[in-house]
Amino acid sequence: MALRFMTAEEAASIVKHGDNLGFSGFTPAGSPKEVPTAIAERAMAEHANGKPFKIGMFTGASTGDSLDGALARANAIAFRTPYQANSDLKELLNSGDVNYYDMHLSQIAQELRYGFLGKVDIAVIEACDVTENGEIFLTTGVGISPTLARLAKKIIIELNHKHPKSLKGVHDIYEPLDPPFRKEIPIFNVNDRIGKEFIKVDPSKIIGVVETNRADEVGGFAPIAPVTAKIGENVAAFLASQIRSGVIPKEFLPIQSGVGNIANAVLASLGANPDIPPFKMYTEVIQDSVIDLMKDGNVTFASGCSLTISPTVLEEVYNNFDYFRSKFILRPQELSNNPEVVRRLGLITINTALEADIFGNVNSTHVLGKHMINGLGGSGDFTRNSFFSIFTCPSIAKGGKISAIVPMVSHVDHSEHSVKVIITEQGIADLRGKSPIQRAQTIIENCVHPSYKEMLWDYIKLEEKVHTPQSLAACFGMHVQFAKTGDMRETQWGDYIG
Ligand code: COA
Repeated sequence: MALRFMTAEEAASIVKHGDNLGFSGFTPAGSPKEVPTAIAERAMAEHANGKPFKIGMFTGASTGDSLDGALARANAIAFRTPYQANSDLKELLNSGDVNYYDMHLSQIAQELRYGFLGKVDIAVIEACDVTENGEIFLTTGVGISPTLARLAKKIIIELNHKHPKSLKGVHDIYEPLDPPFRKEIPIFNVNDRIGKEFIKVDPSKIIGVVETNRADEVGGFAPIAPVTAKIGENVAAFLASQIRSGVIPKEFLPIQSGVGNIANAVLASLGANPDIPPFKMYTEVIQDSVIDLMKDGNVTFASGCSLTISPTVLEEVYNNFDYFRSKFILRPQELSNNPEVVRRLGLITINTALEADIFGNVNSTHVLGKHMINGLGGSGDFTRNSFFSIFTCPSIAKGGKISAIVPMVSHVDHSEHSVKVIITEQGIADLRGKSPIQRAQTIIENCVHPSYKEMLWDYIKLEEKVHTPQSLAACFGMHVQFAKTGDMRETQWGDYIG
């Protein structure tokens, strides 16, 4: 069946108010660019004519500005799931103008299949190639594209010539069966390949192909600051100690590393420590630092869901593709983040906390319990199922006015039962096998910034002879103080305890 080429505007004209759209990619990597921009323009035109126009959106994770940003600015989003990171969209979901459903990234594909989230009317999928037989070859991000393509009534392809056709072969496309028929996912080694190199759909569902030549809108990272460098050194030193003690097998274990500036810096430190052997990664996002580690021979293979690397680094990868193509594989997030595989492979997981409490609960998403930053992402998929889980964060934020370690987190993403190690620039708190009071003592002693140590030592004295020394009257005192005066350092426990 011949492919029907069309403009982005023609493609956008197919979308109806109230449709649910699924978009390919994972982070800005592999996200469509032309069609969403055209949908945003269409929405603005409809609004100018006094007509409603909003869509529901399913994505792999965050996307680029021409997708989330353009649609948010056009006020064209009614519902959005899962992870996002666009400032215009954040404003809308924090004001309640967009209904945002945050969820574990490994689960979105199956929840779509189970029918929990509604129908997928149209899938918009970026490809480096598409055939008349309905074979779709993806680009830099896989996300939930295989499921979207199968469930969607209609598919629009964005054929992006910026990505070379030599990308064909790096993808491992596989969808598990749903219960009660699901079997084990046969990934026993990081580099096992279990699926196809392309998504196969009924070609009659492909209603249009829009051509483009636009690069992924991946931003760079903040330069590595002394605090993040120190956190990275502490992580590397901790892993080296675990190798020496024999806790980590001598073969070492695959690493998962989270997203953002801190995670990028931590990975760089692993490469710089001579006691860390070359390692494999089974992770979600392959960031810039992984490419550097590959070049230096520190990372020997990476399985991920996306190549979220800045444009110049991606160009370098494409220019040296013969070297890189044997070093990574891109899978759907249902596999890259799969709890069964994470536990089987024994991943050491390293993610970033926004805030942790003295008992080991972690908040990855909400500022002061209310304001969403990005979302949970894959942090829960990995943390809960890891060999052991590490969370890193600077001990203070906003020039010291906020302590990242508090009596009780203002929002819980990862409970004390899943969080095994907390590391700040101050030091390392190994929480394994420790009671709540022991965890609190370890975290205060090793991880808290000196300007908050005394305050937190005093806090655990408020309640004595209890299993968990938590004061219900005072546990959010530091947050309340920040809301009142903008500085947690002014907290007085006496204000809460009669
Ligand atoms: N309270 C309020 N704000 C805080 C804070 C706290 N306890 N701790 C940090 N912040 C602020 C920082 O000051 C900074 O704000 P700014 O940009 O206005 O300066 C912001 O939160 C964090 O940015 P940054 O320090 O650059 O961190 P990052 O880029 O490493 O991202 C997360 C950190 C937590 C937001 C990010 O890792 C994330 O979204 N995690 C959840 C998803 C996830 O873990 N996915 C990985 C699975 S593979």
